[in-house]
Amino acid sequence: MSSASPPQGNVSAVESTQPEALDPILEVEDLAVHFFARSRLTRRSASPLKAVDGVSFSLAAGKTLGLVGESGCGKSTTALAVMRLVDPTAGRILFHGKDLGGYSRNQLRDVRRGIQMVFQDPHASLDPRMRVGASIAEPLQIHHLGDRDAVRARVIELLEMVGMDRVHADRFPHQFSGGQLQRVGIARALALDPQVLVLDEPVSALDVSIQAQIITLLQDLQAELGLAYLFISHDLSVVRHVCDRVAVMYLGRIVEQGERDGIYRRASHPYTQSLLSAVPRPDPRRRGAARRIVLTGDLPNAVSPPSGCHFRTRCWKAEQRCAEVSPELVDRLGNGNRAACHFAETLS
Ligand SMILES: Nc1ncnc2c1ncn2[C@@H]1O[C@H](COP(=O)(O)OP(=O)(O)OP(=O)(O)O)[C@@H](O)[C@H]1O
Ligand code: SF4
Ligand SMILES: [Mg+2]
Repeated sequence: MSSASPPQGNVSAVESTQPEALDPILEVEDLAVHFFARSRLTRRSASPLKAVDGVSFSLAAGKTLGLVGESGCGKSTTALAVMRLVDPTAGRILFHGKDLGGYSRNQLRDVRRGIQMVFQDPHASLDPRMRVGASIAEPLQIHHLGDRDAVRARVIELLEMVGMDRVHADRFPHQFSGGQLQRVGIARALALDPQVLVLDEPVSALDVSIQAQIITLLQDLQAELGLAYLFISHDLSVVRHVCDRVAVMYLGRIVEQGERDGIYRRASHPYTQSLLSAVPRPDPRRRGAARRIVLTGDLPNAVSPPSGCHFRTRCWKAEQRCAEVSPELVDRLGNGNRAACHFAETLS
């Protein structure tokens, strides 16, 4: 449920001309997804909920971009729009330099083979009535990729790629643990030989010990196949471990974006600082050095976000200007990382 209206994005013209990744496979430019709820009384469309509002990023082969932020900030909607499972209200998604918006539904089905998604809940993403081999084979059959024997051979190959055995092909989802089912989900996503995987909280539903195994599997597959990952997570420890670059979302907008090490060393946005202050430090000598920043107040309603900087109602640095002018996402410290905060230079 979305319709067109110009996004009120926070991405400047200068910023969108700066490449995020060298030689990108996937580029997202000024993406907006606005949901419209219709009033029963007036039948008119109420104000839109701007789930995604002017988001830009790019992904290169073999690299991982982490998309982080608290619940409801628009991470999954961004992922679904990249997959074209929801229609963007505005913006462009370029795959190998070609705008996905320019393709017909039929053409899109073929082009989209190169971008696949892994969901948070493997139980929900697999049909409980289908043997897992049949679930993995389904995309191959839809695209008419081989006869019965070839499809069966490919299913076995995919199962082995994700560390499972051929005998598992004939079992049903309820016969597997969560970790094994997520391996099946990854095998299914790999069936069409994609170049990009959109991973929406791929380990959040799993036990911590199993999380590490799945992350290792994803890293091995990336090294072997040169996959690009859009890795969505609210766990900044995991993101630090797996991502090359990080984009932090707040109320539909990216508020900080850049190289992982730069952001973890010195975040330039108060929201990123607050998220990072809750992450345990790997170096025990530095533990306790940073103060914990606890945000007060809830995430504002995305239908009527605060004026100016959306974060101002929870920001301890907010001044009058923050209510009047929306800060642009620009490199304020000259270190290549961009932050949407008027006072990024003065944050310590
Ligand atoms: N189909 C829809 N119709 C209307 N509003 C929607 C729809 N899908 C998502 N939203 C709203 O869009 C906003 C962003 O939701 P989204 O699911 O993208 O957040 P998220 O960052 O993935 O959250 P979480 O961490 O909980 O998964 C939320 O306010 C949500 O309620
Ligand atoms: S622009 Fe103002 S309100 Fe927004 S993050 Fe910066 S200091 Fe806080
Ligand atoms: Mg989500």
